[in-house]
Amino acid sequence: MKINLDYSGRHVFVFGGTTGINFGVAQAFARQGAAATVASRSEDNVNAAVTLLEEQSAQVLGVCADVRNFDAVGQAFEHAVARFGPVDVLVSGAAGNFLCEASSMSSNGFRTVVDIDLVGTFHVLRQAHRHLRRPGGSVINITAPQASIPMRYQAHCGAAKAGVDQLTRILALEWGSEGLRINAISPGPIDGTEGVRRLMAPSAEARRAAVDAVPLKRLGTLDDIANLALFLGSPHAGYISGAVIPCDGGGALESVKPTLEAAGRAAASASHEQGTR
Ligand code: NAP
Ligand code: COA
Repeated sequence: MKINLDYSGRHVFVFGGTTGINFGVAQAFARQGAAATVASRSEDNVNAAVTLLEEQSAQVLGVCADVRNFDAVGQAFEHAVARFGPVDVLVSGAAGNFLCEASSMSSNGFRTVVDIDLVGTFHVLRQAHRHLRRPGGSVINITAPQASIPMRYQAHCGAAKAGVDQLTRILALEWGSEGLRINAISPGPIDGTEGVRRLMAPSAEARRAAVDAVPLKRLGTLDDIANLALFLGSPHAGYISGAVIPCDGGGALESVKPTLEAAGRAAASASHEQGTR
């Protein structure tokens, strides 16, 4: 069978899909012919994303919604489904993060990241459930390596993303008999994104350490992640469910953990020097 990644006539919804990795994923699906819905908090981000996506697909919808607001997430799906029909591929990637030691992190700081990354993912999947195409709907959560690799300054994000990984597996169990597949992509450091610019590599030294932590000795690209999402959303991945798949140049391998920690330390010291809280 020839690989066919034509998404014409399909509806792809990317929550948190207006910037960075998730926007790269939305662009890739739109290029392959999908009707694309993107949603996030900022009206400016939503409008900018819609303008760029319209260059790739005639069918684009942007919705403003905060994943922490269960009802707003539900309304976003109502709106999108009224326009483009059931969701064939749902990508859930809204996230927030900052570098901070647990001993100085406020309760609200910890809760904020857990609310966006973990509770937000539950809201998105829970509200999407009845709108997913059956059979054949594919859900892709965007997680992160700190879900399974303990990293300093990442108590909030590591705990939240570990929850996202387990939610992925449990919903794959619960929803599999409905013909729905639930997977997660765990990106490594992806060049040009907020996660790398602000968190992993805010200085030349931190960037060198981040590259050095990857066995393939390069940062990832938006297309590296989008290509995996295109595959996971398609029938070619029809027997893959409940999987958390690293797309990281080998960075999650146990042997590189000390180098990852060095990258985290360099990034944290650079962000302190810049006076970031
Ligand atoms: P990003 O550009 O900041 O993307 C985050 C997106 O989520 C934005 O579109 C943001 O838009 C949206 N968002 C944030 N809070 C939200 C909320 N409460 N409700 C709705 N939408 C919200 O960051 P990124 O670096 O590309 O990261 C994207 C994903 O990849 C995240 O899940 C992250 O954990 C994961 N990841 C990234 C890397 C990396 O190298 N960058 C590595 C591993 C994992 P608004 O501000 O408009 O809401
Ligand atoms: N260090 C320590 N605490 C911090 C912090 C930092 N760098 N940034 C925020 N916080 C704390 C705040 O002090 C606040 O706690 P407090 O009320 O006890 O003071 C809490 O976190 C919430 O901050 P607030 O700015 O009100 O949250 P928000 O909802 O406006 O923004 C964030 C959420 C903080 C996660 C923000 O970084 C964000 O919106 N990020 C989205 C983009 C992103 O992070 N992308 C990368 C994805 S990997």
